[in-house]
Amino acid sequence: MAKTNLMERGRNARARLGETLFELRKRFGKKGEARFFRAPGRVDWLGSHTDYNQGLILASTVNREIIVAARLRPDKTLNFYSLNLKQEVKTSIDKNKPDPRHGFANYPKGVIHELSQAGVKVPGLDMVFCGDIPIGANLSSSAAIEAAGLEAVLGLLDRPMTRWERAFICWRAENNFVGLPCGILDQFTIINSKKDCALYLDCDNLASELIPFSFDQYYLLVIDSGVGRQLVKSEYTRRVQECRAAYSTLRKAGYKIKSLSQLAPEQIKEIQPKLEPVLFKRVRHIVTENQRVSLARKVVSKKDFHKLGALFEAGYQSSSRDYENSCKELDILHDLMAKAPGVMGTRIAGAGWGGCLVSLVKKVDFREIEARVKKPYQKKTGRELRFFPVETGEAPGEIL
Ligand code: GLA
Repeated sequence: MAKTNLMERGRNARARLGETLFELRKRFGKKGEARFFRAPGRVDWLGSHTDYNQGLILASTVNREIIVAARLRPDKTLNFYSLNLKQEVKTSIDKNKPDPRHGFANYPKGVIHELSQAGVKVPGLDMVFCGDIPIGANLSSSAAIEAAGLEAVLGLLDRPMTRWERAFICWRAENNFVGLPCGILDQFTIINSKKDCALYLDCDNLASELIPFSFDQYYLLVIDSGVGRQLVKSEYTRRVQECRAAYSTLRKAGYKIKSLSQLAPEQIKEIQPKLEPVLFKRVRHIVTENQRVSLARKVVSKKDFHKLGALFEAGYQSSSRDYENSCKELDILHDLMAKAPGVMGTRIAGAGWGGCLVSLVKKVDFREIEARVKKPYQKKTGRELRFFPVETGEAPGEIL
């Protein structure tokens, strides 16, 4: 398990640790030593909706994190508290079922459930979460809660587990327990990537590569459009179904493919008449997006920021036109960003249908970008933007 030193952390991070410990003792009693664990958020660089099509992904951790103060209990009680949400949840190992009223706590509850399914005996726990990953900003605060919770349980029980297994425990918690049919992108990236690296992942066989990388005079700018993500669950599920439908039509038409990602770009033309227009567009996005990820893998190792930006841009066009996971506000924001200085390219972060865009930008131009984009966006949409510059972050682990 990765370990980070308390003294190497910034003042804010140390203050957050102090607060979590204070809250844990105040709410759940002074008995028993707590330990600290953490996990970063993630940002996807390319590979939009390719994960559940066994396709390719390029992503990284971010330098924002969820921390958890945790300790074992002698009984079967499960206590959770979120300092960010000011929400306390009390349940027990025997009653560990999904509950919509439990909000954030469903993530660590899901992890505990999946650990038990995998044969790990988990006792009662006290856990207080706190973090600086903005909620709803497509930086995967939920997968970070899962990963930090899992680090804590495994650390406290002194139980080894491979990174693969960890990613799947968290992925199953999200799919089976929380109930979002997501791919492996978020959990795999958070658990397997590292600081100063981009992660390239083939979701077909889970072969991955850590590409050493530094942003130098650039960073990724995640911009929250202020449009809530109410549509995500229904639209996401619909896209998963459309991809399945396209796949089974092509199989029936004689294509011996294991997934849509096995189609080559040269086959796009020939499959068009075999699919309904909407399904064809979905497939075209998946096939071209995989191709963009392959190109980006080479571009990233050469640190060619211009080419990487151009691939972001092409990804955006494909998402907007073919996968239709953009929305009016994201389109407005994208067009404003395209005219701002120092912006290499912009794409949709995470699932889409609101939420955030992510741009590759020159650090020195940040203030100018903000100035050029904030007000016009507000004028056109009536919404406030939030800007989150990110770089890569440390892998999950214990804070000592
Ligand atoms: C969400 C899901 C991921 C992935 C992206 C789209 O973030 O959680 O698994 O499908 O959308 O690329």
